[in-house]
Amino acid sequence: MLRDAIRSLAEAKIAPHAAAVDEDARFPQEALEALVANDLHAVHVPEEYGGAGADALATVIVIEEVARVCASSSLIPAVNKLGSLPVILSGSEELKKRYMTPLAKGDGMFSYCLSEPDAGSDAAGMKTKAVRDGDHYVLNGVKRWITNAGVSDYYTVMAVTDPTKRSKGISAFVVEKSDEGVSFGAPEKKLGIKGSPTREVYLDNVRIPADRMIGEEGTGFATAMQTLDHTRITIAAQALGIAQGALDYAKGYVQERKQFGKPIADFQGIQFMLADMAMKISAARALTYQAAAASERGDADLTYQGAAAKCFASDVAMEVTTDAVQLLGGYGYTRDYPCERMMRDAKITQIYEGTNQVQRIVMARNLP
Ligand code: CAA
Repeated sequence: MLRDAIRSLAEAKIAPHAAAVDEDARFPQEALEALVANDLHAVHVPEEYGGAGADALATVIVIEEVARVCASSSLIPAVNKLGSLPVILSGSEELKKRYMTPLAKGDGMFSYCLSEPDAGSDAAGMKTKAVRDGDHYVLNGVKRWITNAGVSDYYTVMAVTDPTKRSKGISAFVVEKSDEGVSFGAPEKKLGIKGSPTREVYLDNVRIPADRMIGEEGTGFATAMQTLDHTRITIAAQALGIAQGALDYAKGYVQERKQFGKPIADFQGIQFMLADMAMKISAARALTYQAAAASERGDADLTYQGAAAKCFASDVAMEVTTDAVQLLGGYGYTRDYPCERMMRDAKITQIYEGTNQVQRIVMARNLP
């Protein structure tokens, strides 16, 4: 029922704008409004803070169905979860009330600030500093590749509070867009997910109350990693949705397209490609839903499960979208058809929330 409801909404309100959002590299405002109106922009927020209280699997289905028609738009529910989960997992009750309530209402979005220009895969090598000053912390540094930066009102920022302790000297904070000293770089010019702005976040003597720290001093890196354990599954969901969208389009196209006097769907070479695409998507979906169940239960092997789902589903998305372009031939290579956009959008799922090489490090360190 949930899937059917979201699919109808996504097809009616989000799909019609997907090509223009990509072409013009503009934020999908129509998608945000439709998602907020239907309480689907941050479904993971618990009911006690006014949220929909969706479990991890339901959240995956929402993201999957939005990504099936517009990957850029799927980053609204996905990054709202990524940015706010540190607060939900480790924040004080006061912080949860203060920030989850507007998020649930659709009055403000969340972003997640871990990466820096010189700290990508080596996240613990970050340089952004937070120095205690009485009842405040003063933050200075640059965060890079921040999804939905500028659009979001709230930012979970990981910063060094004790430079002698590497990962154990990192703490997490909530920074607000309106805080003095917060500014944003120019939007990155990207290959795909062009509707979702990616910008640097500059923190220039940003003075925030100490109660905006998430959890205890020195626990920020662990909170950031725990968050990714859960949210890499939402990237798997995004990848799955993109792949399904490409398969659905290609499946229709091959029935219509006639060569050598018959629909190309009648050729076994085409049928075999479609069969492989469907098989890979089924396997990716099984792994993603299994990981979502592990996330919901808090299983001991969640770190492995999240990394495996993200790694596998994103590779499948790249393969399936590339094959969809191939099935459409020359038409697939043009912007008149959606498959090339899906192929470009799929690529980022192998890179963000940790490259697939990092996922293999994570899996190898946490083998089940
Ligand atoms: N859960 C809880 N704690 C964890 C943890 C986890 N999954 N992983 C690590 N920790 C904690 C542990 O306490 C650990 O210390 P112990 O020795 O006590 O166990 C401490 O963190 C340090 O861990 P590591 O020694 O494993 O750290 P490392 O420096 O070797 O790095 C890494 C490990 C896996 C490479 C990690 O740096 C990593 O995941 N890198 C990729 C970062 C990433 O995914 N970035 C994406 C940013 S989000 C994004 O893409 C933006 C967006 O908007 C979509």
